Amino acid sequence: MSPISAPASPATSSMAPQTPTKRLFNYSAGPGQMPEEVLKQIQDEVWNCRNSGVGILEHSHRGPVFDRILAEAEQDCRDVGNIPANYRVLFMTGGSTSQNFMVPMNLLPSNRSGSADYYNTGYWANQSMEHARIFGTIHECASSRPDNYTYIPRPEQVRHSNAPGYVHYTSNNTIFGTQFHRIPTPPNGTPLACDMCSDIFSRPFDVTKFGLIYASAQKNLGPAGISLVIVRDDLVERGNKDIPGMLQYRTFAAAESRPNTPPVFCIYAMGLMFKWIKKSGGTSYFEKYNAEKSKIVYDLLDRSTFYKPHARPDSRSFMNITFRCPTPQLDDQFCTEAAKHGLDCLKGHRAAGGIRASFYNAMPRAGAEALVSFMSEFERTRG
Ligand SMILES: Cc1ncc(COP(=O)(O)O)c(C=O)c1O
Repeated sequence: MSPISAPASPATSSMAPQTPTKRLFNYSAGPGQMPEEVLKQIQDEVWNCRNSGVGILEHSHRGPVFDRILAEAEQDCRDVGNIPANYRVLFMTGGSTSQNFMVPMNLLPSNRSGSADYYNTGYWANQSMEHARIFGTIHECASSRPDNYTYIPRPEQVRHSNAPGYVHYTSNNTIFGTQFHRIPTPPNGTPLACDMCSDIFSRPFDVTKFGLIYASAQKNLGPAGISLVIVRDDLVERGNKDIPGMLQYRTFAAAESRPNTPPVFCIYAMGLMFKWIKKSGGTSYFEKYNAEKSKIVYDLLDRSTFYKPHARPDSRSFMNITFRCPTPQLDDQFCTEAAKHGLDCLKGHRAAGGIRASFYNAMPRAGAEALVSFMSEFERTRG
């Protein structure tokens, strides 16, 4: 096990020259690792964006350079997701957390007489339900809570309520490391809403099966501070009008996502991520690549008598791999020693404990190989 980078010695004064550092493998669940070529382009364009003589941080959100950046970001997003014309592509702020209340606020009747069905598959699904309860009756149509969220409920375990306003699920459970491998079927004609925050564009999906999809950027789509919302026209039109304008999807749809000053830099960076996904081979390419990368780690977990994976095999996430050592002390040692070997941010979320390695699109295969090499050595010496 050899370190992939040596930490730079801290500069003694703010003016002292900094020793350039090599980059670590960053297994953070988000903000996560971004592709090197995108970061390098951002570096250049912070100084001078598209040869305009003005950096991206300084461009007006109503100027011609940003007009083009915004139009391209939307078109590239449509290309990546094969998004039909009857869906709006919106760039919004407030993270996925704000979508947790915007979805029910817009889609349920404002007198709180409505209801919605939610899959309870983990921490974020619970967050979504908690926000939605303010706006109507929330029915858990399936739950893996009794098994500590180790699996995704099978279709025969799902019980829908009578005429829900929509059905909501979280496609990838970032904290527990489980993922839906098929899109659930809601009752006939009921819109399907999805928190796709941690696996959007990591694989192809049929947008027409959804009424609304949301995802904050900081996993597969760039820097934190922006959320992508893909929403069908009829839901935008039908949305409540007696809520503040800035909380209505129609406001963002009508104003090309800029009813006020939008996060210019984040839209620009997300646009670069769409271009990078397209150039790399699109979502089909990443589906295969992500499956290969995660298999390298899951294969070791399956062979090991030391590590214990959290998710059941049929529900395993290709994005976030969760496991434990035999004791919490060994989990801590694992993370501390891994960091010394250039493997960063492996500690599990506080709600789940253990170890979590995130493999978003930008994590190279070498990141899986380096982790497995470290894991084997750790098991050999501590097992
Ligand atoms: C699946 C999922 N949903 C929602 C969120 C919350 O996102 P945000 O912090 O952007 O509000 C996260 C954050 O990690 C997540 O993984």
